[in-house]
Amino acid sequence: MPAVITSHGSHVPEHDGKITFYVILCVIISAFGGLLFGYDIGISGGVTSMDDFLIEFFPAVYDKKKHAHEDNYCKYDNEYLQLFTSSLYIAALVASFAASKVCSKFGRRTTLQIGSFFFVGGVALQAGGINLAMVVLGRIILGCGVGFGNQAVPLFLSELAPARIRGALNICFQLFITIGILIAGIINYFTANIHPHGWRISLGLAGVPAAILLVGSFAICETPTSLIERNQIDQGKATLRRIRGTDNITAEFDSIVAASEAARQVKNPFRKLMRPSSRPPLVIAIVLQVFQQFTGINAIMFYAPVLFQTVGFGNNAALLSTVITGLVNMFSTLVSIYTVDKAGRRVLLLEACVQMFITQTVIGLLLLLHLKPAGSLNSTEAIVVVVFVCVYVMGFAWSWGPLGWLIPSETFPLETRTAGFACAVSSNMLCTFIIAQAFLSMLCHMKAGIFFFFASWILVMGLFTLFLLPETKGVPVDSMVERVWKQHWFWKRYMIDDDENDDDKVVKG
Ligand code: BGC
Repeated sequence: MPAVITSHGSHVPEHDGKITFYVILCVIISAFGGLLFGYDIGISGGVTSMDDFLIEFFPAVYDKKKHAHEDNYCKYDNEYLQLFTSSLYIAALVASFAASKVCSKFGRRTTLQIGSFFFVGGVALQAGGINLAMVVLGRIILGCGVGFGNQAVPLFLSELAPARIRGALNICFQLFITIGILIAGIINYFTANIHPHGWRISLGLAGVPAAILLVGSFAICETPTSLIERNQIDQGKATLRRIRGTDNITAEFDSIVAASEAARQVKNPFRKLMRPSSRPPLVIAIVLQVFQQFTGINAIMFYAPVLFQTVGFGNNAALLSTVITGLVNMFSTLVSIYTVDKAGRRVLLLEACVQMFITQTVIGLLLLLHLKPAGSLNSTEAIVVVVFVCVYVMGFAWSWGPLGWLIPSETFPLETRTAGFACAVSSNMLCTFIIAQAFLSMLCHMKAGIFFFFASWILVMGLFTLFLLPETKGVPVDSMVERVWKQHWFWKRYMIDDDENDDDKVVKG
């Protein structure tokens, strides 16, 4: 077995284990948190393009939509409509900080359980909504579910997985997000023709995965890392044996204990995060989330039906095209599961930048040259737009989508892991909120230029990846400091020992 150096300097053999049935079960159940997140992403675009929903809650938008000479790019520009979509993400942002505390004090499993209660409550309120306040409140509660779920699931998966397949298992979170988005698209396609309460069915069906997550979260285990960190050493050891399917766990156990001991010394993980040595993973985690959102993906995921109507599709054709992009999104994620631990993270991210840059630019040019404020694209042009949107989604789905979640979940040392990951989740939610809230207005004001705006961001993120993002493929989570940060040409300058004068540490009595 090859030796590795842990973040605490000791040499331990590279640990490994079988992929047990129990691990697979835990992965599937916890990934339902991702499915619910995806469902919420995918459902709102279709619902907000349904006339029955607009008549009930947004009559002004409905009137504008029906207005014959309304500018193509502006017909859905309504801040309340955007608030319906975006309120979920602002709630998730706030909730992720509470979730981080729960996650380190009570564990990943409890965090997920609390999240699933929120999901069930939020779905009930939304589907039964009789006024806008109720529907938006439902979305806010769902947002709390997303904040708790997105905090717990990626960490849970990264800590449960043996290092050699950590990337692949972690990406199951993203895979389930894409499954959620796809299911939402398919459901919207059918419920759009159920009058007048199709939208209620769309929103209410999220209750099924929410109930599965709630029940399932009682069947999964806590991660050994979280148990050991909270001093439940024997249980941690037993769980490690169970999930690895072998008694030969000493090496892995020892490295978790060492990481936990260091973690327990830290009184205030958020303050520790502000130290220079935490800067590399923190900057990478936040920047990756900002970049992920400024690829423009959610302009497509939230507003694809609206966007496809903008270029001239009818309501049903627009919803169908959304299902097609949903399928592309899901199948392309499988490519990432297969390649991430072989080709590595950087190759996928860089290749996708090229692909997404080209497609965004082409879509922008097409709309610029052919889509006037009144009238629509001809059918060939509209189909070309859908094809380019699919190629764009493909690139995102095997790179920035999954890796935006994977990399921050594997690069923090244990002592700052939940706090650092909370910063990642909340940055993601903040940027998702911004896109959800601003996209329709940006589309109205910038018109086709919005696609060049996203293309410029993609250029910047490509350069960042090229020069500043280290490869983390195959490196055990608790060895990142020694093997990644201390070796990197740029980030190593921050890896000074900031133990001296460290008032964040618990004073040993
Ligand atoms: C992102 C979401 C996005 C989804 C698309 C996720 O990784 O966080 O914002 O809608 O991917 O598949």
